[in-house]
Amino acid sequence: MTLPKLVLDPPFNVTRISHVVLTVRNLEASRRFYADVLGLVVSASDGSAVYLRGLEEAGHHSLVLERSADDPVCRAIGFRVLTEQDLDAAASFAEALGLDATWCERPHQGRTLRLVDGSGSPVELCVSMPALPRLMQSFDQFHGGSPQRLDHVQVAATDIQAACDFYAAIGFRLTEYTARDGTDELWGVWLQRKGNPHDIVFSNGRGPRLHHFAYTVPEVRDLIHACDVAASMGLGSHMERGPGRHGIGNALFVYFRDPDGHRIELFNTHYQTIDPEDVPQRWDLTDTRRSQLWGMPATRRWFSEATPFEGRIVSEPRLKADPITLETFLASQV
Ligand SMILES: [Fe+2]
Repeated sequence: MTLPKLVLDPPFNVTRISHVVLTVRNLEASRRFYADVLGLVVSASDGSAVYLRGLEEAGHHSLVLERSADDPVCRAIGFRVLTEQDLDAAASFAEALGLDATWCERPHQGRTLRLVDGSGSPVELCVSMPALPRLMQSFDQFHGGSPQRLDHVQVAATDIQAACDFYAAIGFRLTEYTARDGTDELWGVWLQRKGNPHDIVFSNGRGPRLHHFAYTVPEVRDLIHACDVAASMGLGSHMERGPGRHGIGNALFVYFRDPDGHRIELFNTHYQTIDPEDVPQRWDLTDTRRSQLWGMPATRRWFSEATPFEGRIVSEPRLKADPITLETFLASQV
């Protein structure tokens, strides 16, 4: 294992996770789930797509649902860059590395560069979106979990070291990580640009696949209320895990599966980590506190099921769990 060196002058400036693009088979069913049950705000919609955002978000969208008759996939993970010059620098960076990068037109987004990252996942770098009113004080519009903003995504990847090295080179900071006990093998990395524990997480597994994306909620009661609303609307079975508290990141969480099986986490709490001298927190693979401080393990499907990326081949992970640690590992993944 090599923990990444701090890159304080990255080749271009990514500011934060921006959005996720998913395909869904029934646009109305998915809109009902995300807007009416969980409480996201619909910014725009047409016959083929719905654009949603959290209540505090001024950016036009953080979740895009696109109708497709094919098996559900994730079409892209989106990040924001700070300036037009940063976007051009990203294009030069991709070209120098020989990455497959193309300019693309996306509705309700400024210039957008599409590339494949160090984990094999499709990424969109976007420089701007139309600004819409923040609704964080429109309490009359709060319902479900009242999600406030997209905070992070987690990706199952086959080579965690490679994914970590790629993002570290463009200025992402490692905040926490998991490694097999007594070894230097990286099994999971929590990486951030915006000053809290993560914008993107990579965990060892069949990949690349999108494991989940996560929105913050204002209060603990909103997590519970989201569960109650889902149950009241006949969608109680869509709750997959929690509520519980992760050791990593200190998040109080609940996970749902949407009508197409895409996984979304609602959570609150997090901590600030900005100062360069902050040391990444190591967690041994067998330390179950990292995933659940309350001692309630996730179900097996939480570990095995995830959303494929469109056009990307899913492969087996480079690191294999040995039989002795497999059960502990499965019971402790975040
Ligand atoms: Fe998460």
